[in-house]
Amino acid sequence: MAMAAPLTLVVVAAAVAVVFVGGGVEGWVLKEGFYEQSCPRAEALVKHYVEQHVPLAPSVAATLIRTHFHDCFVRGCDASVLLNGTDGAEAEKDAAPNLTLRGFAFIDRIKSVVESECPGVVSCADILALATRDAISVIGGPFWRVATGRRDGRVSIKQEALDQIPAPTMNFTDLLSSFQSKGLDLADLIWLSGAHTIGIAHCNSFSKRLYNFTGKGGPGDADPSLDAEYAANLRRSKCAAPSDNTTIVEMDPGSFLTFDLGYYRGLLRRRGLFQSDAALVTDAAAEANIASVVSSPPEVFFQVFARSMAKLGMVGVKTGSEGEIRKHCALVNDIHY
Ligand code: HEM
Repeated sequence: MAMAAPLTLVVVAAAVAVVFVGGGVEGWVLKEGFYEQSCPRAEALVKHYVEQHVPLAPSVAATLIRTHFHDCFVRGCDASVLLNGTDGAEAEKDAAPNLTLRGFAFIDRIKSVVESECPGVVSCADILALATRDAISVIGGPFWRVATGRRDGRVSIKQEALDQIPAPTMNFTDLLSSFQSKGLDLADLIWLSGAHTIGIAHCNSFSKRLYNFTGKGGPGDADPSLDAEYAANLRRSKCAAPSDNTTIVEMDPGSFLTFDLGYYRGLLRRRGLFQSDAALVTDAAAEANIASVVSSPPEVFFQVFARSMAKLGMVGVKTGSEGEIRKHCALVNDIHY
């Protein structure tokens, strides 16, 4: 599949200050500074909280950006991933891919700071989008402009998360169609996957690649597309048993708290942790773009990443009178038991 050269993407990134993508209601769009009148300090409060707390626990940045991504892929960026299940009905956060999200309490604390200044005004969806951007910035990663005005959804269904969040076992074609189904494109897939330059994974997310790739089983049955030395090292020192679901591994070993090019360098050396990472270099155009970005200054990656993050944050947003502004991010407003 053909794709614009990275440098072209950079120019586009610089030119696109705000991408106005309409929400579900005609005439309503997100805009920068949405809370300027209704809660002038909203964005500053989020930023301040993040700046105070993320340096003490920098791994929060990884879980926030993953939470934002998982939110946007199911019912749009409407904070549906933050909702608790109700009697008898499990929510998105109960679905397997979301069981390893770790930032719910962090978001709740920001929400209560903002609520105490402007009750019922600022959505959880916007708080998640802003806190993600600020946290990545605090750890030295890219900065992108976040248009606001997202409304919170009232529905969260476990099965939808299972169906729509891409799996680490996916191949290139399936990943691309997953992203395209959300209005994102090949460039977004390649550069957003670069978020795997930070954070951790549990062994069971990829141990099939180490022990049982074809079903025969044993160390001889490793994924041939995974660098053999890296696989042996993971088996020896990290994921020592195929069933291990507790040990964690740095996704970009040696710099998992730093937003850098290490993830893409790893991909080019066949050291991507998931099949979905390795899949990116199975496409010739994608691989060429990655190679080009790897040999450029990190700012190039930062710019294309920032552009795709701004797009991700617009996916399926609710605006105007859709949804609601939740009082508590884990609960819809008029919950009755
Ligand atoms: C392209 C498809 C993707 C797949 C299949 C995928 C899959 C996964 C999996 C399986 C994990 C490890 C979970 C665990 O074992 O604890 C993970 C972690 C992570 N993902 Fe992705 N991911 C994808 C794209 C993205 C995107 C687009 C972002 C953000 C823009 C992202 C950000 C992260 C981060 C930061 C972590 C580390 C989380 C932590 O440290 O808690 N991923 N991903």
